[in-house]
Amino acid sequence: MAANRDFLTQLDAAIGDADHGVNMDRGFSAAVIDLDATTDLPPGELLIRVGGTLIYRVGGAAGPLYGTCLRRAGESLGDAQVFDGEALLTALRVGLGGIQKLGAAEEGDKTIVDAYAPALTAFERELRAGGDAAIAARKAVEAARDGMRATVPMQARKGRASYLGPRSVGHQDPGATSTASLFAALAGALDGER
Ligand SMILES: Nc1ncnc2c1ncn2[C@@H]1O[C@H](COP(=O)(O)OP(=O)(O)OP(=O)(O)O)[C@@H](O)[C@H]1O
Ligand SMILES: [Mg+2]
Repeated sequence: MAANRDFLTQLDAAIGDADHGVNMDRGFSAAVIDLDATTDLPPGELLIRVGGTLIYRVGGAAGPLYGTCLRRAGESLGDAQVFDGEALLTALRVGLGGIQKLGAAEEGDKTIVDAYAPALTAFERELRAGGDAAIAARKAVEAARDGMRATVPMQARKGRASYLGPRSVGHQDPGATSTASLFAALAGALDGER
């Protein structure tokens, strides 16, 4: 998020209020500091903790959306010390459910959901085809990036960008872009576990 801060903020300047990169960097930096000071929590508990930090520190629309996503995903993983691809799939699905319950966005509304939903589908498809979680996450990244690029011609129907109506067309959605980065981080972490 630190590396993408200016790019995300530029995207948000075109169709929002130029704060998405700053918001995300602030929240994720706070989460990293908090995690560095935290030991011995299982993955689910860590996600719940990061989700709370994001709700509190990111702000805007994205803070509650991503925060709820990670909290729900963390609750789904529970207090297990390890998780397999199926448990991760369920956590990812529950996380998207949290985003959609809170924000009521569907695919095509030019939001986070346009990167996340196809990423989830790709993750599940690869798992069902026999791939492990790391390979499935790589497929999810490709799908998230395709979904992110597909937001360019869309007209926003949710969030601040929707106020622009047809003038939101022709710009990549900031939230879909940060979602693609988050899936890339997930894939990178899983690669490191192999
Ligand atoms: N209802 C929603 N569901 C999913 N994603 C959404 C929704 N509303 C906005 N978003 C995502 O949030 C991104 C903007 O996040 P940002 O952190 O800039 O919040 P914001 O729009 O500036 O919030 P606020 O208007 O409260 O200041 C958008 O690019 C979009 O992807
Ligand atoms: Mg904004």
